[in-house]
Parts: sequence; structure tokens; C-alpha cells
Amino acid sequence: MASLLPLLACVILCTYYSLAHGGKEHGFVAVPTTASEPEAVCSTSRVRLDPESNTVFVPLVHLHGPCAATQSSDKPSFSERLRRSRARSKYIMSRVSKGMEGTTRDDASVSIPTHLGGSVDSLEYVVTVGLGTPAVSQVLLMDTGSDLSWVQCKPCNSTTCYPQNDPLFDPSKSSTYAPVPCNTDACRNLTGNGYGGNCTSGGGAQCGFAITYGDGSQTTGVYSNEALTLAPGVAVKDFHFGCGHDQGGNNDKYDGLLSLGGAPESLVMQMSSVYGGAFSYCLPALSSQAGFLALGATSSGVNASSFVFTPMIQEQKTYYLVNMTRITVGGESIDVPQSAFSGGMIIDSGTVVTQLQHTAYNALKVVFRRAMAAYPLVPNGELDTCYNFTGYSNVTVPRVALTFSGGATIDLDVPNGILSDDCLAFRESGPDDQAGILGNVNQRTLEVLYDVGRGRVGFRAAAC
Ligand SMILES: *[C@@H]1O[C@H](CO)[C@@H](O)[C@H](O)[C@H]1NC(C)=O
Ligand SMILES: *[C@@H]1O[C@H](CO)[C@@H](O)[C@H](O)[C@H]1NC(C)=O
Ligand SMILES: *[C@@H]1O[C@H](CO)[C@@H](O)[C@H](O)[C@H]1NC(C)=O
Ligand SMILES: *[C@@H]1O[C@H](CO)[C@@H](O)[C@H](O)[C@H]1NC(C)=O
Ligand SMILES: *[C@@H]1O[C@H](CO)[C@@H](O)[C@H](O)[C@H]1NC(C)=O
Ligand SMILES: *[C@@H]1O[C@H](CO)[C@@H](O)[C@H](O)[C@H]1NC(C)=O
Ligand SMILES: *[C@@H]1O[C@H](CO)[C@@H](O)[C@H](O)[C@H]1NC(C)=O
Repeated sequence: MASLLPLLACVILCTYYSLAHGGKEHGFVAVPTTASEPEAVCSTSRVRLDPESNTVFVPLVHLHGPCAATQSSDKPSFSERLRRSRARSKYIMSRVSKGMEGTTRDDASVSIPTHLGGSVDSLEYVVTVGLGTPAVSQVLLMDTGSDLSWVQCKPCNSTTCYPQNDPLFDPSKSSTYAPVPCNTDACRNLTGNGYGGNCTSGGGAQCGFAITYGDGSQTTGVYSNEALTLAPGVAVKDFHFGCGHDQGGNNDKYDGLLSLGGAPESLVMQMSSVYGGAFSYCLPALSSQAGFLALGATSSGVNASSFVFTPMIQEQKTYYLVNMTRITVGGESIDVPQSAFSGGMIIDSGTVVTQLQHTAYNALKVVFRRAMAAYPLVPNGELDTCYNFTGYSNVTVPRVALTFSGGATIDLDVPNGILSDDCLAFRESGPDDQAGILGNVNQRTLEVLYDVGRGRVGFRAAAC
């Protein structure tokens, strides 16, 4: 045994030396420590659109950054954001492992069946769209983890609507507003999918809806039909959404939710005859930069080659699931069996850091820590691989690449797709056969294309 020790020591030390100092330097990037600091002013300069005739682009900004038209008073700390995100991801994972049937509350005191949505308090990206005729600006949280969109609507008062900056949407001032009547397929489908559907109110004419989210917030109101303006001159008719007359929970300042899940109630599925059941977004590297949301497949034309694709596993209604097959750190694959990824990965806009299965996470952590061994590791309540970069003007970070089934490989943005608040932006989710979740930090600067119509997910580098 003793004779093996020097060899073993060299395997460890020499690997470290070669990773950190030579040979594999292409797998490492020196970045100024200021690269993670948002600017005080909004920047839109990095958005690189790849437009096709059948797509529409909507600017997308961070709720807490200078690009947002209205500033939320709720500016949660990083650990609070992670706590909210963990509640969201727990909820999503429980839904995925239980199957996707509409969930109904058993509580006998609640007479109407209540649809449970994912949690909304961890959502951080907003888009501004126009609702009604004439169009009224509405700032909506973008959410790939729920299906029924809604806005706060008149009539409601200070107990039933939370404060928002824009004037409340007033159906009576729109010439295109119409409640969805009870005796329609649209209402029956909504009820059938577990969103309440209360045909006794309003003289039996209007279709009610109710959603309770995993974070305890809720909305109820009237399922409605309206014109939705996505961009100047680009309006879709017959957008079905919830006109919310009674909201509660942790909501603040935004006007509602734009839901982009995979079930029939979502904007994507409603508009599939126009936009082919496809949408994409690019989340910017920093909260001071703008990104975009696009409806339609931006990959169908001449520049399809700028995307890499992986098959979408279609068994989930709301969530978008793909298979991951490999993780590379500084050019080296982490050494785990394929079964480490057997649970699949949900791609979600509202989960902050990637939730990785047990075996893969622990292997990633070891390799990443080794690659970052030059920097002092400091404990942090929520994440376990955090660094103290005080005194460094630049930091040498390993590139991290994720490979998905079919070979699609994405390089995470350096440093903002890898590190968040000086921590490795991954954490352990659960057993290997349970789904993980690709978080929004790790998706930064990539255009992520959810091409439901063609059963695939695409990624385009450096899109914003
Ligand atoms: C296609 O992609 C190339 C390189 O990314 C870009 O220069 C070009 O403008 C794109 N073409 C279109 C039509 O968007
Ligand atoms: C708000 O409206 C609800 C429902 O219409 C009503 O029960 C409540 O008393 C109102 N509250 C205030 C403060 O006006
Ligand atoms: C209602 O659901 C059925 C079955 O999924 C579907 O074929 C139909 O198009 C839906 N109708 C409306 C108006 O949503
Ligand atoms: C259903 O109708 C009752 C009575 O009008 C009302 O109190 C309740 O809020 C309605 N629920 C929904 C989900 O519309
Ligand atoms: C995803 O992975 C699971 C488990 O490894 C496998 O059964 C399934 O065929 C894979 N699906 C795709 C689309 O790659
Ligand atoms: C980080 O490093 C600086 C400089 O070495 C030191 O003063 C500080 O206490 C460290 N902070 C933590 C949280 O360890
Ligand atoms: C990183 O910082 C060190 C000292 O702080 C400096 O010597 C080195 O040139 C810097 N490297 C880059 C690529 O900026």
C-alpha cells in the first residue's frame, strides 16, 4: 500500500496542478470580481435577437433591477430568495413525482375545488404587455411553472387586491373584454382541470376560477376573454385569463402572472395555432440588464444552427422535462454513472439555483471545490460551496458545461451562470431518480427555447 501513496498523492496534486496552472487552461476563465455587480442604470445593449417572421419579442426585466418600470418594495436577500425558491422547487418536485392530475383540496370547509399552482413569491422576471382595447399596460411575472394567467381586476378594494403601481385593469373600460360564459367548453375544461369554475356567481353567467399557490398566495375571480397586445401592433384576440377580484399572499407591485406552462390553459398552448406551441426567453446575466421573452420558434429559419436541441419528455403537463447526461467542470466530466441523472431535469424560470440529484451534486461539488481551491471557502446558510473573494480583483473560474440527451451541450455563463453571491449556484435536490430543476441563475444569457410543438428544448448561447 505504502508504495501507492506517492502515486495517489500525485494523482490528486498533479491533477489539481494541471487543472489550475496549465494544460487545461482553456477550461478556466479569469474574470474581474466586479463582473457580478449590477449597474445602477438599465442596459439593453446585450440583447441579440434572432428574429423570424412568426415570432414576437417582449422585453423581459428583473423585478428588482433598474430596468423594471416599477420597483418592488420587497427586495429579498439572497438567502431569502433561496428559501422561497426551495419551497417552489419542493412543490414542483412533489407534483412531478405524484403525477400531474389536477390537485383538489380535500379540506371539506373549502367548497370549491382549488387548483394549486407553483409558488409565485420566488418569481423575479417581469414582462410588460397590453391588455384590453384600448390596451392598458400590465406588468406580469413570467412563470413557466403554472398555466393559468391572471391580472388583478376591478372591482376590488384594498382588502381584496394587493397594492400595485399600475392602475387596476378595468374590464368595463375595454371594448373587447368578455367574461367566459359558464355553458362553454372553455369553462368546462377549466373546471375539469381543477381551477374551481363557479357558475353560481354573477347570475350563473360567468365562469369563476380559483388558484392557490404553493407559497399560500391565492387568487379568485372570473375567467375572461380579452385582446392581449404583446408588442406594438401585435395583438392576439381571445386570450383567456383570470380577472382576479380577490387576491391574497406575498404579492407586491406587479399586476399579475403570465403563465407559460405546458397545460392547455397557458398562453403558449392557447396561442399554439399562431405561434406553434413554442416560446423562448433569455434571462440576462445581471439584474441591471434586459432580456426578452419571445413567442414562436426563433429557431425555425436560417439560424436554426445557432441552437442546440434536446428532446422534451412530454409526459408532464405543466413542467418541461429533459434528460441531462453529463456535467463538465474546467473541461473534465464529473465521474458519475448515467443513473445519477435518471430523474431528469425540469427547466424552470422561477427556481433560482439548479437543484441537482444527490450523486451528481456531490461529485460536482468535489470537482468544483478542487478547481477553486485557491480561494477561501466560507460557509453560507443556504448553499455549501461559497467563497470569500475579498481582496481579489479577479477570480479564475472553471467553465461549467451541461450536456443533455442527444448531445446538446451548454456552457454556463462565466461567472454569472455558475456563481451567484460568490456561491456555486447548484444545490442538492434529492434522490437520483427524482427530477432535478435547472434554475434561472444557470440559464442566464442563454436563449432557452421551449418548442412544445416539435417536442424539444433548444439553447442558444450569448443571446442577451
Ligand atoms: C444568424 O446568426 C449570425 C451569427 O450569430 C448573425 O450574424 C446573423 O445576423 C443571424 N441572421 C439572422 C437572419 O438573424
Ligand atoms: C372589500 O370587498 C369585500 C368583497 O366585496 C367586502 O366584503 C369588504 O368589506 C370590502 N372591504 C373594504 C375595506 O371595503
Ligand atoms: C376543451 O378540452 C378538449 C379536450 O382536451 C379540447 O379538445 C377542446 O379544444 C377544449 N376546448 C376549449 C374551448 O378549450
Ligand atoms: C363562487 O360564488 C360564490 C357566491 O357568489 C362566491 O362567494 C365565490 O367567491 C365564488 N368563487 C369563485 C371561485 O368564483
Ligand atoms: C430519459 O431518461 C430516462 C431514464 O434514464 C429514459 O428512460 C428515457 O428514455 C430518456 N428519455 C429521453 C427522451 O432521452
Ligand atoms: C474574507 O476575507 C477577508 C480578507 O482576508 C477577511 O477580512 C474577512 O473576515 C473574510 N470574511 C469571511 C466571512 O470569512
Ligand atoms: C488577476 O489579478 C492578478 C493580481 O490581482 C494580476 O496579477 C493578474 O494579471 C490578473 N489577471 C487578469 C487576467 O486580469
